[in-house]
Amino acid sequence: MPTVIFVHPDGTQQRVDARNGRTLMETALDNSVPGIIAECNGSAACATCHVVLPEDVKTMLGPVSDHENDMLDFADAPREPGSRLSCQIKISDVLDNVSVRVPSA
Ligand code: FES
Repeated sequence: MPTVIFVHPDGTQQRVDARNGRTLMETALDNSVPGIIAECNGSAACATCHVVLPEDVKTMLGPVSDHENDMLDFADAPREPGSRLSCQIKISDVLDNVSVRVPSA
């Protein structure tokens, strides 16, 4: 079971157990991670599940779809090189002990 480390805007960390097969967004909601709203419930239509990953991890997860890429422009926080929609990321061992930053809105 991977452990994901959500990093809040103030720098505090929240370590959570994540189940393979769930999405990163679902994992955040399961653990009441502040700042992950998920208004569209995972349809990649709201960008309220925006997170920032280390760039090497983002690369390991594979290419971002054109739709997700477009939606990231609508996130409240400025887009960064490691930006992803957490609802589009399936939990896997790649995310074990990875710091996932929740950007400030
Ligand atoms: S939950 Fe809406 S875009 Fe991810």
